[in-house]
This record gives sequence, structure tokens and C-alpha cells, in this order.
Amino acid sequence: MNKQFLYLVMIFIMQAWSTAQASDWRKTGSNELKLDNVVKVMPGASTIMLQMGERYKNLYWAAKQEKWTFAEYQVEEMESLLITLMITRPKRASTTKHFLNDAFDLFPAAIKNKRWQQFTVAFEHMRKRCMTCHEQNKHEFIVLPAKPSRGNSLVLDAALVN
Ligand code: HEC
Repeated sequence: MNKQFLYLVMIFIMQAWSTAQASDWRKTGSNELKLDNVVKVMPGASTIMLQMGERYKNLYWAAKQEKWTFAEYQVEEMESLLITLMITRPKRASTTKHFLNDAFDLFPAAIKNKRWQQFTVAFEHMRKRCMTCHEQNKHEFIVLPAKPSRGNSLVLDAALVN
């Protein structure tokens, strides 16, 4: 009796599993459906900008804690996020390109020289351009703080403890 019951449960689970397999578009969908779905889930500005905001804070605090290589890495990642944005949201491409023209230009020297004062000028230069793009994209209400109050990375946490 008990054995029979277990057997039935097993059959039920296997059937549920195969039904799930059959309806999984990633495995059984046409290439057209797969492509459609992939295009739909490509990250847009709202997702990418959340990451930009985190890296913005981390960039500021990396420099403040004199973690210059980590600061340089944040700039590179921000640039890469914007390149992704140009691909996933073509309507944002021209304003993104405009930003990339010169927004990051002052960082390499400041980071190479490891100078906080020089870095703050580079940071402010970039911040203004971030907000210009927000204006150009009708999101002028998204205003960035000149001095983010803290970073958001374990790498920066460690520095605070030491
Ligand atoms: C293409 C122009 C563009 C550039 C360049 C840009 N942004 Fe944005 N940003 C947007 C748009 C558009 C939104 C609104 C996203 C949405 O809802 O689609 C946004 C939203 C944001 C948000 C709000 C995220 C949230 O929901 O809490 C933050 C933070 C942000 N951006 C940070 C930055 C930072 C930092 C920079 C510069 C390093 C930057 N952005 C550069 C276009 C831009």
C-alpha cells in the first residue's frame, strides 16, 4: 500500500517535470520566440542606472580611501555599462555618446597622480555630465549628490575597519 503510494507520487513528479520541460521556451521554443524573449529581458536604463549609482558611490569612496586601482576599475565598469546601454536602448545612444565624449576625461591624470583634490574636480566634472544626460532624457529630477555619504562595496568596508 505504502509502496504503491510512493510509486504514484513518483509518477506524478515525473509527469510534472516533463510538462515543465515542454513549456520551457528556452529548450523548446522557436528561434524567433527565443530571440524575442531575449530582447525583452535585456537590461534597460532603469536597471543599468541602479548599477551606475552604486559605482558612482564606490568611485568616490575608493578615491577617498586611496584605493586608486579600485577607483580606476569603477570608471572602467561605468564606461562598460554605458556601452551596454547604447546596445540595449538605441534611443539613449546619442545622449550616451555625448556623455562618453568627455565625462571621464579628467580621471586618468587624477588617479595616476593619486591626488584627492584633483580627483574631486574630475568627479564634479563627471557628475554635471551625468545630470545633463538626465535632463536630456527627461529625468532631470534625478539629481546626484556631490559627496555620496558612503560606498557600497565590501572592498571599501574592509578599508574602514583597518
Ligand atoms: C543616457 C544618458 C544618461 C547618462 C549618461 C547617465 N544617466 Fe543616469 N539615468 C538616465 C535615465 C534615462 C534614467 C532613468 C532610468 C529609467 O527609469 O529608465 C537614469 C537614472 C539614474 C539613477 C536613478 C536610479 C534609481 O532608480 O534609483 C541614478 C542613480 C543614475 N541615473 C545615476 C547616474 C550616474 C551616476 C551617471 C553618471 C556617472 C549617470 N546616471 C549617467 C540616463 C543617463
